[in-house]
Amino acid sequence: LAEGAGGAERRLGSASGAQRWLVTLGSPRVPLKQFVSKQVEWPPSLLEVPAHTKLDYTVTDLRGGPQPPSPYEERYRKTTFKGGALAGQLTAVGMQQMFALGERLRRSYVEEASFLSPAFKPAEVFIRSTNIFRNLESTRCLLAGLYQQQKEGPVVIVTDEASSEILYPNYYNCQRLKCLTRQKLKDAQLQPAISEDLKTIKKKMGVDDDESVDFFLLFDNIYAEQAHGLPSCPVLKDFQQTIERRCIDSLLFVLEDGSREVLQMSVGLLFYTLQKNITEAADPSSPAEKARKLILYASHDVTLIPLLMALGTFDHKWPPYAADVTLELYRHRQSKEWFIRVSYHGEEQVVKGCRAGLCPLEEFLKVLSQYSISPEEYNNLCSQTEGNEQSDL
Ligand SMILES: *[C@@H]1O[C@H](CO)[C@@H](O)[C@H](O)[C@H]1NC(C)=O
Repeated sequence: LAEGAGGAERRLGSASGAQRWLVTLGSPRVPLKQFVSKQVEWPPSLLEVPAHTKLDYTVTDLRGGPQPPSPYEERYRKTTFKGGALAGQLTAVGMQQMFALGERLRRSYVEEASFLSPAFKPAEVFIRSTNIFRNLESTRCLLAGLYQQQKEGPVVIVTDEASSEILYPNYYNCQRLKCLTRQKLKDAQLQPAISEDLKTIKKKMGVDDDESVDFFLLFDNIYAEQAHGLPSCPVLKDFQQTIERRCIDSLLFVLEDGSREVLQMSVGLLFYTLQKNITEAADPSSPAEKARKLILYASHDVTLIPLLMALGTFDHKWPPYAADVTLELYRHRQSKEWFIRVSYHGEEQVVKGCRAGLCPLEEFLKVLSQYSISPEEYNNLCSQTEGNEQSDL
């Protein structure tokens, strides 16, 4: 294991470390869905790839076979917006933001800590992403920034079938989560304060009363438009804070149900994987595992929110584009004790259940284990039916 990053080294006196990261990649992009009545133009000129973000890569399934089909992607490709861009497409602004995130990581892990090699080495890095094109492209840009487009071998990004994806709350294989989410979001929208706000905004925007608009759609559009300096509907701008707060309120309504189960169904399998990856990194059982320094998981804002909630570090703000969470594994040089340090946007977080930013590994694993579930437990939780939930599937 190589040198640890500067911050913790100072605190520990001397430490060496191996890093593991988890990154979310909702970089600036075209909205996923637009209003019927109010449409901003999204011209293809916004999508040109900046030369410095280019990097060749291939995509495989988890076992190295061909890239699985991507039902989400197929759906996005069917929606062309005014101006010509496709729904959810990563823009040049988004590519630049991901590249900048890569450069920030380069400063910490290559330049300051000399932990990662200056050029990409396949044995050092494992990369997994959701099988959605903008996310694969975001990952490419991050790697281009991290390695300044230098590589000593092929870049392979691993993806999973939509039916078993663990990098976002999966409604394909967890019917219970799907029903619960749908029902709770409906309930949230019926709360008088929330529904009044929505009515007011729709009226001021001049959106038809029967057009189906929710706060997530509003937020997605205003956020994307602002990131690209596009003329946003002025009313949307005036209500931006309300819209963001209502999105968070609605999501908390779904995720905080008084038990751990919703969070377990949302990020339990991811936590289970992280737990294994961290345990293995601390005690590698093969030379390949020993050589690995970085595991990169490319996910989405809808993953980060439950993940941060489970860690007790959610700041009640919607994760911005190109947000990242890093988990760094350290070992004290003298005592040989292991520690985990969690950061969000590069800022150290104190995880609920840990006494300080640098958390003893055992304590950290205990935090993960409250939400981590095995595939068997996941299937059990996901197939439970409750009396008051109507299954419409
Ligand atoms: C992380 O853990 C999962 C689950 O055990 C495993 O499939 C995967 O190969 C691990 N990744 C790495 C890079 O060790």
